[in-house]
Amino acid sequence: MIAGILLAGGRGERVNSKVPKQFMKLGDKYLFEYPLESFRMSNIFEHIVLVVPKDWIDFVKVRTPSDIHVIVGGDTRSESVRNALDFLEKFKPDFVVIHDASRPFLKLSLLRRIVKSVLEKGAVTAALSCADTMVEFENFVYVDRERYVRIQTPQAFRFDIIKKAHEKRKNWRDDTQPVVECGFSVEFVKGDPFCFKVTYEEDIELARVIAYRWHMIFEEDASLSKNLLQR
Ligand code: CTP
Ligand code: MG
Repeated sequence: MIAGILLAGGRGERVNSKVPKQFMKLGDKYLFEYPLESFRMSNIFEHIVLVVPKDWIDFVKVRTPSDIHVIVGGDTRSESVRNALDFLEKFKPDFVVIHDASRPFLKLSLLRRIVKSVLEKGAVTAALSCADTMVEFENFVYVDRERYVRIQTPQAFRFDIIKKAHEKRKNWRDDTQPVVECGFSVEFVKGDPFCFKVTYEEDIELARVIAYRWHMIFEEDASLSKNLLQR
């Protein structure tokens, strides 16, 4: 059984808006509803957990289908993940896919690539190569961009691996970090530029442009990637 965790428990401080970015309107939907729809449309998950800040629970519950488990997040991303893992324990999932709700444009092809890979490898993340010249800016050192990848979400793990990795209760940047610290290897799966993280104010503008055409982009991708994961 595969479970999905959608993280919307942050405050979105870098966007500088009154409401957390995941609850901003993008076209006709709230930002968090985009990846939630991708999760639901994929038919991959037996359980979907949506993690939100305590004071947004009511707002989210009235807008969310009743089969989605809406739970309260923690002070950090890692805590929010742990809350979701603890919640899921009773359902005994075999695998879990974790995704930032602040990455609204999640194609089914990417989800399918991630799931296909985790079934075999046990720990995977979406990642993109670096196209721009990379410089360590303090000393203007030009680094070899071929040696770096940019890690995105979704990330997916065998449930026992991610539970064990989170035992230390530290605060990590993402969920591959504790898994690697625990000695497991993490497989890279080709990410997607559409799956960027809305982080700063200007990202909202870009997201609004994509939102306008998202329905078509999503549908076309879904039909092209139909055969990627035969279930
Ligand atoms: N997140 C979470 N719980 C937290 C912090 C973050 O569930 N306590 C989620 C965010 O909602 C987001 C994802 O983790 O979907 C990635 O975090 P980020 O993009 O950094 O979002 P925020 O922490 O909300 O933004 P900022 O760092 O600018 O405050
Ligand atoms: Mg943050």
